[in-house]
Amino acid sequence: MRPTWDETQFADGSGEYYDDAVRHLMNMAIASGFSPSEVFYHKDLWTRFQVFADWQFNVLLKHGLQSHHEFLDIGCGVMRPGMKLVPYLDDDRYCGIDPIRGYLDLADRYMQKVVQRNKQYELLASSNCDLGRFRRRFNFAMAHSLFTHLSFDQNEHCFCRLKEVMNAGGQFLFTVCLGDDREEDFIYVNDTPMTHSLRRDMSFFQSLAEKVGFRFEFLGRADHPTQLVCTATF
Ligand SMILES: C[S@@+](CC[C@H](N)C(=O)[O-])C[C@H]1O[C@@H](n2cnc3c(N)ncnc32)[C@H](O)[C@@H]1O
Repeated sequence: MRPTWDETQFADGSGEYYDDAVRHLMNMAIASGFSPSEVFYHKDLWTRFQVFADWQFNVLLKHGLQSHHEFLDIGCGVMRPGMKLVPYLDDDRYCGIDPIRGYLDLADRYMQKVVQRNKQYELLASSNCDLGRFRRRFNFAMAHSLFTHLSFDQNEHCFCRLKEVMNAGGQFLFTVCLGDDREEDFIYVNDTPMTHSLRRDMSFFQSLAEKVGFRFEFLGRADHPTQLVCTATF
């Protein structure tokens, strides 16, 4: 029998990181075939779920997201901010892309069963950041807890694809961990396309801004509980 949240939440002594908002979702993940070791190990995806969801939602509103805007979530995982954004946005305004189809299917089932808003959204399973496949242009985009796990080339590729799909003046918010922020690199378990967390500094994004053509701004902590925050304006 597969363990559920109640049986394993303190198994590695880090149960304090999980909040009630994610309990049902984690149990659904395990019931639908995710290995418990992946669910409980893959901390960045599940921990502080509500705190991060609230931060993501609030920072987007603070930067001017409105309900009629087209929104893109890169590396959307299980649609953590999508749980709040889909109800907030007009119909069919939320798009998410992630290589792991299991996350997208899980998010989709959770949206239908629990969030239950009669709204369309579009999810795409891809690791190649082929954002043109959405066939729309976006006002806002976000990559939360993504870039630190990708290679420099993948980062650059993502900005190039974004440049093609963002409206003029469109804003992209993203988070990063810097070398002095995180002492040890880490790698995800199982068959994910994630790489080691790479150390980089802001000059990397500044030079990308000049090369690709966007305005880069470093926002510092910006009230994020654990990471640093940046914007790219296209
Ligand atoms: C730490 S999780 C963050 C998920 C989500 N942004 C959140 O805050 O809940 C990183 C996500 O990036 C996804 N990912 C990994 N490689 C990717 C790539 N090349 N393009 C897009 N997403 C990717 C992973 O599958 C995972 O869902």
